[in-house]
Amino acid sequence: MIRLGVNIDHVATLRQARGGREPDPVWAAALSELGGADGITVHLREDRRHIQDRDLRILRETVRTRLNLEISLAPEIVAIALDVRPDQVTFVPEHRQEVTTEGGLDLLSHCDRVADAVARCKDAGIEVSLFLDPDPSQVEAAAAVGAVAVELHTGRYADAPDHASRQKELDALFDAGLRVRQGGLLLHAGHGLTLQNVADVARIPGMLELNIGHSIVSRAVFLGFERAVAEMKRAILDAVAAPQPGR
Ligand code: PXP
Repeated sequence: MIRLGVNIDHVATLRQARGGREPDPVWAAALSELGGADGITVHLREDRRHIQDRDLRILRETVRTRLNLEISLAPEIVAIALDVRPDQVTFVPEHRQEVTTEGGLDLLSHCDRVADAVARCKDAGIEVSLFLDPDPSQVEAAAAVGAVAVELHTGRYADAPDHASRQKELDALFDAGLRVRQGGLLLHAGHGLTLQNVADVARIPGMLELNIGHSIVSRAVFLGFERAVAEMKRAILDAVAAPQPGR
């Protein structure tokens, strides 16, 4: 069974556009769960551009599935995670000017910092996932720092301009997925996934969790949250049930 983690950051982005109280991401989380979400994902950014500390604390109390908190390695943010204790922390890189998380964590350059942050989360009973590009050397370093899971960055696959490059990126995800599992880690993926491109990623052997935000929130504007989550969940389940074309 693949878990669908619904990323509700964009609901908070809409709220912050007016600096008021609605739409409330806490409501989006509840409706996502009613629609079949297996987890709720939020990114508490250092600049607080969308999710606020208040959201995180309420979500910790109200989420009935799993709360996955995306954070950078910044000490003050790690301290908040240790205090709130989500079910899972996913470490991501963070750059002030980026529109969204642009690439995976550079584990090779920040090995000691990551290992230290992972150990502190583990001591607090929090599972740790690392958001990595499907790059063999990055993925193979994940087990050594004590992570439980790797979330493969599917952005390059999602943005591929043509069939050939999309296939090349998919091959890289399959290869990285194999390396993650050979390292004894759990396999997650996310970024840029939509109803149109989710099936091939869902079919990567051993895939356990997909984190999807923008596409679900975009469709929820027109269809409502429950329906937008339910149709994504169905697309994932159908993909896994169907034979793999061409593989
Ligand atoms: N996973 C991670 C680690 C992310 O940073 C994001 C974007 O916030 C997502 C998944 C979801 O990406 P999208 O909004 O493109 O579905």
